Amino acid sequence: MVVLVAGANGQLGQAIQFVSGNYPQIDFVFCSSNDLDITNKENCQEVFTKYKPNFCINAAAYTAVDKAESEPEKAYLINVVGVKNLAEVSKETNATLLHISTDFVFDGSNTTPYSEKDIPNPSGVYGQSKLDGEKEIEEILEQHFIIRTSWVYSQFANNFMKTMLRLATERETLSVVDDQIGTPTNAIDLAQALITILINSNIPQFNNNLFGIYNFSNEGQCSWYDFAKKIFELNTISINLIPIPSTSFPTPAKRPSFSVLDKTKIKTTFNLKINKWEDSLLATLKNI
Ligand SMILES: NC(=O)c1ccc[n+]([C@@H]2O[C@H](COP(=O)([O-])OP(=O)(O)OC[C@H]3O[C@@H](n4cnc5c(N)ncnc54)[C@H](OP(=O)(O)O)[C@@H]3O)[C@@H](O)[C@H]2O)c1
Repeated sequence: MVVLVAGANGQLGQAIQFVSGNYPQIDFVFCSSNDLDITNKENCQEVFTKYKPNFCINAAAYTAVDKAESEPEKAYLINVVGVKNLAEVSKETNATLLHISTDFVFDGSNTTPYSEKDIPNPSGVYGQSKLDGEKEIEEILEQHFIIRTSWVYSQFANNFMKTMLRLATERETLSVVDDQIGTPTNAIDLAQALITILINSNIPQFNNNLFGIYNFSNEGQCSWYDFAKKIFELNTISINLIPIPSTSFPTPAKRPSFSVLDKTKIKTTFNLKINKWEDSLLATLKNI
């Protein structure tokens, strides 16, 4: 089985590379943005023709949530046109596409976890571009999985956990918003979940009705302030951490105040056991 990973040098791409050695039955082809530019359809066709993947994991994306507000064309080019290219080329070559989407497709007005059936209503350019990318896949390609995730962090690339650890070396006091509730997702747990899905779907008796949208994050929920507090606690870092409302930390893009994802569907369909966010955070900190 050949699995092509687009965006292999991003945070999730690196996490997939990290766990790939545990799956000797899979031939992984890791493509950075230099090897495969998803916005260039001919380049996608060349790469798919060369490697003939059974599955493509799209870990490539435009992920700069705030910057997207001032450069929407770039966000749309990568998150919509690029995704459309991958869906079309997957269809042409009979590959299954595993695409990653986001909790930011929701506006945050729910008070209970979002299921795959909840109606998206993004509040910013990034979330809208990710939702439009999902719709392209749904229109073009039956053989797809769209995995919505949230608050991804890891030992790789830039993320909230690493920012907190860096800021703790520079400051004695830190203010973090406490009125946005979600769930951290360890990129390695996400990488393993993606591979579990593709292994389970690579059997002749796989039911095509199981293609579609799935939520994945770690278990539990917290605010960004709680997440920061736990990062410092587990590292025995002493810092004056102050909870603040989002109104005291204005950002160009509005973020959902509640974006906890209901994981019932992915857990029951693929028999997945998901770690609590605190346990996965501890495991990640041990890896640094
Ligand atoms: N990070 C989060 O908190 C979070 C939360 C929810 C959902 N997600 C979703 O999870 C997925 C993975 O996120 P991540 O944190 O791994 O993002 P990331 O670290 O920003 O990585 C994105 C990767 O995409 C690549 N890329 C950009 N344009 C490309 C193009 N035209 N062709 C090929 N590759 C291109 C980038 O390569 P270059 O650096 O070379 O440009 C980068 O390696 C994304 O779909 C994201 O929307 C992330």
